[in-house]
Amino acid sequence: MKKEAGKRIKITGTGIYVPDKILTNADLEKMVDTSDEWIISRTGIKERRVASEDQATSDLAIEAGREALNSAGLKAKDIDLIIVGTSTPDTIFPSTGCWVQKGLGAGNVPAFDISAGCTGFLYGMILAEGLILSGAHKRILLIGGELLTKITNWEDRNTCVLFGDGAGAVVLEESDDESGMLSSYWKADGNLGELLYQPAGGSRIPATDQSVAQRLHYLHMKGNEVFKHAVKKMGEAAVEALKSAGLKKEDVDYLIPHQANMRIIEATGRRLKLPREKVFSNIHKYGNVSVASIPISIHELNEEGKLNKGNIVLMVAFGAGFTWAAVAYRW
Ligand code: ACO
Repeated sequence: MKKEAGKRIKITGTGIYVPDKILTNADLEKMVDTSDEWIISRTGIKERRVASEDQATSDLAIEAGREALNSAGLKAKDIDLIIVGTSTPDTIFPSTGCWVQKGLGAGNVPAFDISAGCTGFLYGMILAEGLILSGAHKRILLIGGELLTKITNWEDRNTCVLFGDGAGAVVLEESDDESGMLSSYWKADGNLGELLYQPAGGSRIPATDQSVAQRLHYLHMKGNEVFKHAVKKMGEAAVEALKSAGLKKEDVDYLIPHQANMRIIEATGRRLKLPREKVFSNIHKYGNVSVASIPISIHELNEEGKLNKGNIVLMVAFGAGFTWAAVAYRW
């Protein structure tokens, strides 16, 4: 989708929260049959953050949301909608969005969750754009929060080395200048859902002694299959979003790919023929934090002082569903 000239939304505040506890590859070597060398060479991950037992996704999301509001110069009462992307909600219902609304003291603003796996943050931006440009809402707090370590099977070396916990948030408002969201592209393919999913806990397989014994409440993934689709679809989404913004590959100042695997990140950069320094990565310190990875990356890139006004930022994600999306953005 290309945006109507002059009307766009922009990010007016960012915030993140990651738990203090660090789990290194050396720690994982003591838990499963793996090695620091294997994990780094296959994924680029050196360490990840792990929430404490008493933390739920909303606890992380509230902290990130609070920081985003502060950086936008706003109070919780100033926002008129809360959207939380997550695959690890505090509870199936109420939504994590409602727990966040309570925690922030945001009043009775509507609040809900988006379930789109790692693509949830970009799905949320695209949704927020429609809601703001239609005039329905003015200031939206969009948060990606994930506590994947609580649905990780710590005996499965194929998955347990990959994931971490964290949250990132942005405040979105109508832009009053040239900056903001230029175009977007979003897709899904439900035929491939079982390549990456949490089989039990929903209405298909409710919780029973058997579902617990069979470890069906954990994340299940056919990693190498997911890998192939992720590389292809992230490349496709990046190219399509650029095309509908009327931009060329060489116009991109920063690519912010979902941080799933260093090899996927690099392949997406290669597809756009971007030099390595234009491809943002923080996977070495957080692992795959799913829907939180793009908002955390935007915040860090900005905090590092690397984003200048007018820079073109291309965000691209792929996740469970499968879902994939990209957003071209002028900072
Ligand atoms: N340590 C050591 N060996 C391991 C480990 C480990 N942690 N995990 C797997 N292996 C072994 C396998 O058992 C296999 O051994 P075998 O050949 O004896 O059977 C061998 O390594 C190769 O396994 P592959 O799965 O083929 O390894 P691959 O190179 O594909 O890397 C990985 C696996 C890292 C999971 C990769 O496929 C990947 O990153 N996939 C994408 C995952 C992803 O992006 N998921 C999320 C996208 S959506 C979201 O973010 C939620």
